[in-house]
Amino acid sequence: MKLFSLLAVLSATLTTSISAYDVEGNGICTVIPFGNGRDDSQQFEEAINATECTTITLPKPFTYSIQHRLYTDLTGKTLNVFGRLLFSDDLEYWINNSWMTDFQNLLTAWIMTGSNWTLNGGGFAEGGIDGNGQPWYSRARGVVNQPGRPMSLYIFNASDSLVKDFSVVQPQFWAFLVSQSSNITLDGVYVNATNHDPSEPAANPDAVFDGYNWVINTDGIDTYRSDSINIQNWVIQNGEDCVSFKGNSTNINVRNITCIGSRGFAVGSVGQYPDRFDNIQNVSVKDVVLYPTKNVSLTGAVYFKNWIGEQIGTPPNGGGGGAGDVKNLTFENFEFRAADQPVYIQTCLTYSDIDTTDLCNTSKVLMEDVTFINFRGNSSGTYNGTLVDLNCSSATPCRNFHFIDWNVTAPEQYDPVYSCINAENITGITCNSP
Ligand SMILES: *[C@@H]1O[C@H](CO)[C@@H](O)[C@H](O)[C@H]1NC(C)=O
Ligand SMILES: *[C@@H]1O[C@H](CO)[C@@H](O)[C@H](O)[C@H]1NC(C)=O
Ligand SMILES: *[C@@H]1O[C@H](CO)[C@@H](O)[C@H](O)[C@H]1NC(C)=O
Ligand SMILES: *[C@@H]1O[C@H](CO)[C@@H](O)[C@H](O)[C@H]1NC(C)=O
Ligand SMILES: *[C@@H]1O[C@H](CO)[C@@H](O)[C@H](O)[C@H]1NC(C)=O
Ligand SMILES: *[C@@H]1O[C@H](CO)[C@@H](O)[C@H](O)[C@H]1NC(C)=O
Ligand SMILES: *[C@@H]1O[C@H](CO)[C@@H](O)[C@H](O)[C@H]1NC(C)=O
Ligand SMILES: *[C@@H]1O[C@H](CO)[C@@H](O)[C@H](O)[C@H]1NC(C)=O
Ligand SMILES: *[C@@H]1O[C@H](CO)[C@@H](O)[C@H](O)[C@H]1NC(C)=O
Ligand SMILES: *[C@@H]1O[C@H](CO)[C@@H](O)[C@H](O)[C@H]1NC(C)=O
Ligand SMILES: *[C@@H]1O[C@H](CO)[C@@H](O)[C@H](O)[C@H]1NC(C)=O
Ligand SMILES: *[C@@H]1O[C@H](CO)[C@@H](O)[C@H](O)[C@H]1NC(C)=O
Repeated sequence: MKLFSLLAVLSATLTTSISAYDVEGNGICTVIPFGNGRDDSQQFEEAINATECTTITLPKPFTYSIQHRLYTDLTGKTLNVFGRLLFSDDLEYWINNSWMTDFQNLLTAWIMTGSNWTLNGGGFAEGGIDGNGQPWYSRARGVVNQPGRPMSLYIFNASDSLVKDFSVVQPQFWAFLVSQSSNITLDGVYVNATNHDPSEPAANPDAVFDGYNWVINTDGIDTYRSDSINIQNWVIQNGEDCVSFKGNSTNINVRNITCIGSRGFAVGSVGQYPDRFDNIQNVSVKDVVLYPTKNVSLTGAVYFKNWIGEQIGTPPNGGGGGAGDVKNLTFENFEFRAADQPVYIQTCLTYSDIDTTDLCNTSKVLMEDVTFINFRGNSSGTYNGTLVDLNCSSATPCRNFHFIDWNVTAPEQYDPVYSCINAENITGITCNSP
């Protein structure tokens, strides 16, 4: 048996060094890696582009070396990545050559576009991407939004498509961004960003919220300018937003998500660009479990990030002054342990060094009709007894935040604190601060 499979691999390798991929007829094509450190990105793209290939398979247990940025239009095709696409650790190449996305000038290593396609990793936590994230995490130590880091997969201008049983381990930056897309289902996705640097005190004292292992900006998935996105059956271990909804995310359905480490569910950031109205509407999130790891705290279960109402500096770390409407969001069945602040709103957002305290009441983004149903868990005590902090701006008070079956406790030594500032029609909790 062993000899036969070895021969099969050998002959496949020989074949592919002549023609880049194997065509088996009926549209079925197989890509075998060149090996020996050679770049597979070209033959991978060629197989996807070939009209004779409608199902492209990268079998297990192969590892494919990706040394160049990818652009794939998978219209009408199925891509089975049962092996692993290992993105190279030539950081300088990626810093220089990654594609630009349409959000905050952020970059990506792979653009996936087209309609009516399937991307299949072959099983939970099996095939997919290895972003080779470690050198990126080490390089970014102590820095927020460090320029040059590419997202693992950018689903752009895509529709009616499916990502199934796919994994992204050690993403370079965000694992997924879905933008300008509609009717995309991402089902059974595993993301794990773990920093293996030795635990020593971070250079930047602000880093303490991540323990000493910096895994910032490793978001699981962000949605932007997209409609009808289904995110279900995910497990995400990281040090950033687990799932994040950004401007013009509408009709988003999220089900059965486990967030480990992570900052929980993020609504926003919104209001960063004065010329872009940020609409986030009809979002439903259900059946979520969240907990911290030894090195990475769980900063919250659900939080809202609103930029200040005036523009200070430029994106990605500066900005503000944009308006928006965040409306009709439901978060249901959340179970969590040791969340620093289970639910909170930031209306004073900026990452620039300029002191913007005076602008905290200027946010132009309206937040309304948000319901939290059946939240069970406890807070870590990092913010003493604070369980909910609805810190809204006087320019646009938030309204109609409803808590139903709220069962969240603070560590015993603290009285629970529910802070409501410029918040109207809040039900199900008793605002007791300031
Ligand atoms: C494959 O097609 C895309 C356009 O969909 C193009 O950008 C890319 O260069 C092509 N790659 C190869 C190797 O032919
Ligand atoms: C989707 O792709 C499949 C496989 O290529 C094809 O048979 C089908 O007609 C396509 N559907 C649409 C709506 O384009
Ligand atoms: C990256 O760009 C810099 C400046 O243009 C150049 O000196 C360097 O050779 C480039 N490196 C790679 C790997 O592309
Ligand atoms: C988006 O996809 C459509 C085809 O569905 C294409 O015509 C259009 O050029 C694409 N837009 C961009 C910005 O790539
Ligand atoms: C949404 O996409 C799926 C493929 O993932 C397709 O089967 C379905 O028909 C699409 N729905 C609509 C309304 O086009
Ligand atoms: C994530 O990866 C780390 C390090 O490899 C591992 O210890 C941890 O169990 C993984 N998490 C999950 C949820 O698989
Ligand atoms: C939730 O998702 C996990 C990970 O994909 C899966 O193992 C589990 O079966 C799912 N649970 C339900 C109830 O579908
Ligand atoms: C959202 O859509 C509105 C209306 O089409 C548009 O004016 C606004 O610029 C869009 N915002 C973003 C972030 O794309
Ligand atoms: C609120 O969003 C849900 C989907 O999460 C949708 O079914 C419902 O119709 C929306 N309600 C309004 C008033 O738009
Ligand atoms: C927690 O309480 C202590 C003692 O009252 C206070 O000094 C500290 O600022 C509080 N921390 C937070 C995050 O509220
Ligand atoms: C409070 O919220 C409920 C439910 O969203 C709504 O029906 C009601 O009109 C609101 N009351 C006020 C005073 O805004
Ligand atoms: C709240 O949660 C605790 C611990 O999870 C549980 O013992 C208690 O019965 C719950 N209370 C209600 C009212 O559901």
